[in-house]
Amino acid sequence: MLDASSLLKIVRNIAWVGVVVALVAFGLGYWRANQLQSGNSPADVSQLVGGPFELTDSKGRKITEKDFLGRSLLVFFGFTHCPDVCPTTLFEATTWLKALGPDADRLQVLFVSVDPGRDTPELLDTYLQAFDPRIRAATGTKAQIDSMVQAYKATYRFVPTSAGNYTVDHTALMFMLDGKGRFVGTIDYHEKQDIALQKLGNLLKRR
Ligand code: NI
Repeated sequence: MLDASSLLKIVRNIAWVGVVVALVAFGLGYWRANQLQSGNSPADVSQLVGGPFELTDSKGRKITEKDFLGRSLLVFFGFTHCPDVCPTTLFEATTWLKALGPDADRLQVLFVSVDPGRDTPELLDTYLQAFDPRIRAATGTKAQIDSMVQAYKATYRFVPTSAGNYTVDHTALMFMLDGKGRFVGTIDYHEKQDIALQKLGNLLKRR
């Protein structure tokens, strides 16, 4: 049988445990908040987006992130049957490459198709002919694509349309990586040309 005083002792001990747990939780929360805050610096954000990938380019060659080290990289996910976002983005990238002049040779634009069922390397090669010849395209197995899309914190989704067809919803951002493969930032869909060129200029200044 518990008398009143030993019951009080137990309650008091429980209260102390509660205080200790609360302090530890508060401490962890504070530490985590600091971690997240320091995550705002470019050096840390660069580790949250991007990373290794393996794809097959429009010439049927295996490519990885290592093939682009030493040059700036502009990555875009999409699919060739896209009615608007993809052709618009690649057209805009074409105008940026032209506007950058000789600097454009240090920038690689890479269009990654998330629709390998329709986008064979041959079709990608044909599709590229509408844009700046320096733009490259690649695709891969579903596993390769999913792994890269996930690493870039991007998304895509197959959406059925009429007559057994489908379209693909996808992230419309372009991802900028520096010559060391570090994520630097994004260019929005329909970003104003002068802003896009300013971002690319800054990207190309990085070593
Ligand atoms: Ni698209």
